[in-house]
Amino acid sequence: MPAQLADAFDDLIERKGYTNRSEAIRDVIRRYLVEEEWTTQDAEVVGTVTLIYDHHTHDLGEALTEIQHQRHDCVLCSQHVHLDAHNCLETIVMRGKSSDVRALADGLIGTRGVKHGRLVCTTTGKKLV
Ligand code: NI
Repeated sequence: MPAQLADAFDDLIERKGYTNRSEAIRDVIRRYLVEEEWTTQDAEVVGTVTLIYDHHTHDLGEALTEIQHQRHDCVLCSQHVHLDAHNCLETIVMRGKSSDVRALADGLIGTRGVKHGRLVCTTTGKKLV
């Protein structure tokens, strides 16, 4: 490995609070494997989607609930937080085929009136030690 690359990695390790280089390398490898698994359409994955929306937007809450009911086989649970007088935050945990979880998240995030949405992907970890 080029010294400059190793030095940059060591700086990152220190900033991230790893106690040693091998711990950081294990994390990087796991992250790479998880990302790779997500590219496989049939892999079983876990995803959490976070949505921000204005609860005054007509029928938006009902529309988001309807989408989740249609894919009840994928949705594990949801949590709703009333952030302030207007804004709601909703987190939805999903599990299923990678392609299904992504399609469901895209549908939720793309619903008219959703201000911001983000899907965080991981796996069940079965293949990770
Ligand atoms: Ni609310």
